[in-house]
Amino acid sequence: MKEIIDVKLKTRTVDVGKCKTDMLVVGLFSDAKRLDKLNKALDRKLDGAIGNLTKLGDFKAKDGASSVIYGNDKIGARRVMLVGLGEKKKATLDTVRKAAAGAAKKSVEMKVKTVSLALHTALGGRLDLPAIGRACAEGACFGSYRYDEFVTESENGRLGSLKVELIDSEPARTKKLKEGLSSGAVIGQAQSYARTIANRPANVIYPASLAAAAKKLARGLKTLSCTVLDEKQLTTKGMGGILAVGSGSQHEPRFIVLKHTPAGKAGSAGPKIALVGKAITFDSGGISLKPATNMDEMKLDKTGGIVVLATMKAVAELGLPIGVYGLIPSAENMPGGASYRPGDIITTFSGKTVEVQNTDAEGRMILCDALDYAVKQKCETIIDVATLTGACLVALGRYMAGLMGNDDKLIKQLQEASEQSGEKIWHMPSGDEYAKEMKSKIADLKNIGSKWGGACTAAAFLRQFVGDAKWAHLDIAGMDMFQKATEFSAEGSTGFGVRLLTTYLMNLTGTKA
Ligand code: BES
Ligand code: MN
Ligand code: ZN
Repeated sequence: MKEIIDVKLKTRTVDVGKCKTDMLVVGLFSDAKRLDKLNKALDRKLDGAIGNLTKLGDFKAKDGASSVIYGNDKIGARRVMLVGLGEKKKATLDTVRKAAAGAAKKSVEMKVKTVSLALHTALGGRLDLPAIGRACAEGACFGSYRYDEFVTESENGRLGSLKVELIDSEPARTKKLKEGLSSGAVIGQAQSYARTIANRPANVIYPASLAAAAKKLARGLKTLSCTVLDEKQLTTKGMGGILAVGSGSQHEPRFIVLKHTPAGKAGSAGPKIALVGKAITFDSGGISLKPATNMDEMKLDKTGGIVVLATMKAVAELGLPIGVYGLIPSAENMPGGASYRPGDIITTFSGKTVEVQNTDAEGRMILCDALDYAVKQKCETIIDVATLTGACLVALGRYMAGLMGNDDKLIKQLQEASEQSGEKIWHMPSGDEYAKEMKSKIADLKNIGSKWGGACTAAAFLRQFVGDAKWAHLDIAGMDMFQKATEFSAEGSTGFGVRLLTTYLMNLTGTKA
C-alpha cells in the first residue's frame, strides 16, 4: 500500500527573486490598483510577464484562481505561481490557508518537488506572522493531500513527498513564520491522518481495526494512553447503546478510551475535558435499511471518532498542558439476525432506557454511552463530534457544521476557534421544545423525533446524557461526507474538526500559534 504524500515543511531566509525553487508562490489581491513591491520586482525580472497577465485580464486574482509563469535566468525560480487572494479587505487567515492549499494541490498535480511560499508579503503586515506561518503549513498539508493508497495502476502517478518552505528575506520575519509553522505542521499532519483513516473503506476500518490504529498511535506518544473495551467488557459495564448498534454486525463493537496526561501539575488531577466522537465504521441503517444510492458514502460515518483520534494526536504532539480524554464509541450498523430492531427498548450505560423507533438513528445510541462515561469520569467540559443527521445537511448545506450546546461561554470559545481555524460552524438550538419530542411513552426516551428539526432533536437527545457538564455538540454530517474535489482539496474526507478542536484547546491553554 502506498503511503500518503509526505509533506516536509520548513522556513528559509532568502531573497525571493534569487530563491532557487521549482515553484515560487506569490499572492495578489483582485482589487489592487498596482503590483506590490515584491511582485513589481519579480515582474521586472520576468520582462513584464506578471503585468501582462493582469493587464490582459487573464488573471484577475480572484479567490481560488492561480496562474503559472515560467522563470528565466534573471530569477532563481523555475516557475512562479500567482495565487489570487480576492479582495484585500476581506482577507483573513483562511484566505492564506486556502491559497497555500491551492498552491500545494497544483504543485502535486504538476509533480513539483519544492514549493516556496511567499504569500505573506502581499498582506503587508496585516496579519500576525506566526499565525500566517501556521495557516500556510496547515494549508500546504491540506492541499497536497490525496487518497490513493489502493490505486496500484495509474497513468499519471505522483511523487512520494513534497517539500514546502516559507521564505522571507529578513531573518527576523522568517523566525516569526517558523513559530507558527511548527504547530501548523502538527495540526496539518493530524488532519491528513484523519482523512486517511476516514477514507479507508469499511472492509479495512471496522471497530477492532480502528481500535488497533488508536493503540498504535498511543504507543508512539508518551503522554497518550489507550484502553479499549471489547464486547465482553461492554456487556459487563452495561453499555447497552453501543452493544445494540453493534449487534447486527460480524465485527464486534469497541469503546476506545484515549487519555492525554501532560507532565507536571497540569496532568496530575486527571482530564476535565472530554472529546467524544461517533465512529460508525459503516452505516447501512440496520433493519431500518438505507436506500442503495450513495450508501457507499456511509463508510465516512466514522469521521467524528477519527477527528477525535487525530485531535488527540495533535494535542499530544503539541504537548498541550491540559488533560484530555478522547472517547470513541465504535460499531458497524448492519442488518442481520442479531440486529437490534425498531421497537426494542435499550438500557443505556446511564441507566436511562431508550425506545428504538429507527435503527438508522444509531449515532445517538452509541454517543449516549460515551457521554455518560465522560460524566462518570467527572469531566467538566464535554464536546462531541458526529456525522449525526441528514437534517443538519438540509439546514446548513456543506458550508458549515451545526453547533449546539448548553453553555454560552463554551459556544463562544468554539466560535472563536472556528474563526481562527477556518472550519465554520453555526449555532443551532437544542432546548426543551426539542427534548420534549424525544420522550417515549414506554421508555424514558425514544431515538427519533418528528419529521422536522432533526438536527436539533438529535442534539436534544444527547443533552439528556451530559448531566451538569458544559457540553457542545458538532454535527459534521454535511462537512465530511461525500465532499467533491475543489481548487484546494482532494475529494473524500476533509477531516473537518481537527483544526477547530485543536485550536480550541490551544486557546484554552494559552498556547500561541
Ligand atoms: N449517519 C447518518 C447521518 C447522515 C446522513 C450523515 C446523511 C451524512 C449524510 C445517521 O446515522 C442517520 O442515518 N440519521 C438519520 C436519522 C433519522 C433516522 C432520524 C437521518 O439523518 O436520516
Ligand atoms: Mn444512521
Ligand atoms: Zn450514522
